[in-house]
Amino acid sequence: MDPTYVAVARTDTIAPGRFIKVTVQGQDYLIANTGGHFYAVEDNCSHEDYPLSYGCLDGDRIKCSLHGSRFSLRTGQPLDDPADQPIRTYRLRIAEGQIWLDPSDSDHSDSSA
Ligand code: FES
Repeated sequence: MDPTYVAVARTDTIAPGRFIKVTVQGQDYLIANTGGHFYAVEDNCSHEDYPLSYGCLDGDRIKCSLHGSRFSLRTGQPLDDPADQPIRTYRLRIAEGQIWLDPSDSDHSDSSA
């Protein structure tokens, strides 16, 4: 396994339709299982820096519990007002039932530049 990847959970510990919060190097992430597909996003709503882990899954979207914006877990894009900026998404690898996260590999790391 690429050394930048960090083991974060076993696949069988996240039931379909559920997510868990993990902390890697001081940063919080959500690891979600949308029914066979696993996704990783930052645990932070882009609207007012509120933990998305207080929210809930809606298919392949995470809904913020504070003002209700939903974000695509695949792209990080906001789907509802009031959020208008994406959240960061991260690549995962699955190997032998283990989920690995690359915390350095945000798909939106330069989106605000
Ligand atoms: S803090 Fe998430 S929608 Fe406002």
